[in-house]
Amino acid sequence: MKKRIFSGAQPTGELHIGNYLGALKNWVALQDKYESFYCIVNLHAVTLPQDPKTLRQKTLDLARIYLAAGLDPERSTIFIQSDVPAHAELTWVLSCIARMGELERMTQFKDKGKGNTERAGVGLFTYPILMAADILLYQTDLVPVGQDQKQHLELTRDLAERFNRDFGETFKVPEPYIPPVGANILSLQDPTKKMSKSDENAAGAIFLLDDADTITKKIKRAVTDSGTEINFDENRPAIRNLLTIYQLLTGKTADECVAHFVGKGYGQLKGELAEATVEFLRPFQERVKQYDDDSLRKILDDGADKASSVASTTLKTVYERMGFN
Ligand code: TYM
Repeated sequence: MKKRIFSGAQPTGELHIGNYLGALKNWVALQDKYESFYCIVNLHAVTLPQDPKTLRQKTLDLARIYLAAGLDPERSTIFIQSDVPAHAELTWVLSCIARMGELERMTQFKDKGKGNTERAGVGLFTYPILMAADILLYQTDLVPVGQDQKQHLELTRDLAERFNRDFGETFKVPEPYIPPVGANILSLQDPTKKMSKSDENAAGAIFLLDDADTITKKIKRAVTDSGTEINFDENRPAIRNLLTIYQLLTGKTADECVAHFVGKGYGQLKGELAEATVEFLRPFQERVKQYDDDSLRKILDDGADKASSVASTTLKTVYERMGFN
C-alpha cells in the first residue's frame, strides 16, 4: 500500500513562483511514490470578500496550472473541494473539538484579520479547521506545503490526536513535508516578507503567468543590499532569495550556484535569473493554454468521484464515533 499525500492551493489571486517552488514542484515530484490527492480549495477562497464569477474562473484556471505544472490525473486525484461535501461536514465536527485559544494563536489569522477581530469573518477564524478536515478525511500520511502552513499542520495534528483520544482511533496523524530549500520564497520588494498572492505590491511576486518582459523588469527591480558577494548568507535575505530561486529553477546544487557567480555582480545574477525564469515559464505557459473547459471538467469530476469515496468512508466512521448513526 502506498502512503498518502494531500495538499491544495486556493484559487485566489495569481499563483506565483513561491507557490510553485514551495509546493507544486514537490507535489509533482512526489506523485509517483505516494497515492496523491491535490485539491483546489475553493471553500477556503471565500473567507475574504470575493466575486463569484471570478472565483468560478480562477478555480478552472488553477486546475490548468496544476496540470501544466505536471500533475497527472492518471497518477494523482485532482479535484475541487466544494465537489466533495464531506469537507464541510467534517469541519463542523472538528470545530466542536477545536478551541478558541488555539485558533487565536494562528499567525495567518492575525495577519489577514489585520488585528481587527471584531470585523473579521468567522470563516477567516475557523479556516484552519477546514484545512484540518481536508487533510484528515484522506487518512493522509504526508502534507507537502510551504513554511507558512506549518502552524496549520500542527493544529491539524493536535485535532487528530484529540479526536482519537476522545472518541477512539479514527484519524491518521499527518506529517508535514516542508522542503529544505524553497519553502519560504520572499518578496522581491521586501525580503522581510514572503512572496504573496495578496501583496499590494505586484512587483514583489513573479506570477506564473507573467510575460517575459514583466518577469525581467520585476527581477531587475528586485531590492538587494549594499554588499557585492553572491552567496546564501542568511543575513542577506534578498540575495539569498534570488539565488534560491535560481538554484531551484536551474536544478544546480547550492555549491554550483555560488561557484558560478564568484566574481560576478548583482546585475549578472539578476540577468541570469531573469533568463532562467523566462525559459522555465515559457513551456509552462504554453501548456496552460492546452486544456479546454470540457476536458478539465471531466478530469475534475473523475477526481471528485475518487476523492468522495475515500472521504465518505472516513466521515462515516467519524459519524459512528460521534453517535450520529
Ligand atoms: P496557498 O494557496 O496560500 O498556497 C499554496 C501553497 O504554496 C505555498 N506557498 C509558498 N511556498 C514558498 N514560498 C512562498 N512565498 C509561498 N507562498 C505560498 C503554501 O505554503 C502552500 O503550500 N491553506 C492553504 C491551502 C490549503 C491546504 C489544505 C494545504 C487548504 N487546505 C490542506 C495543504 C493541505 C493555502 O492557503 O495555501
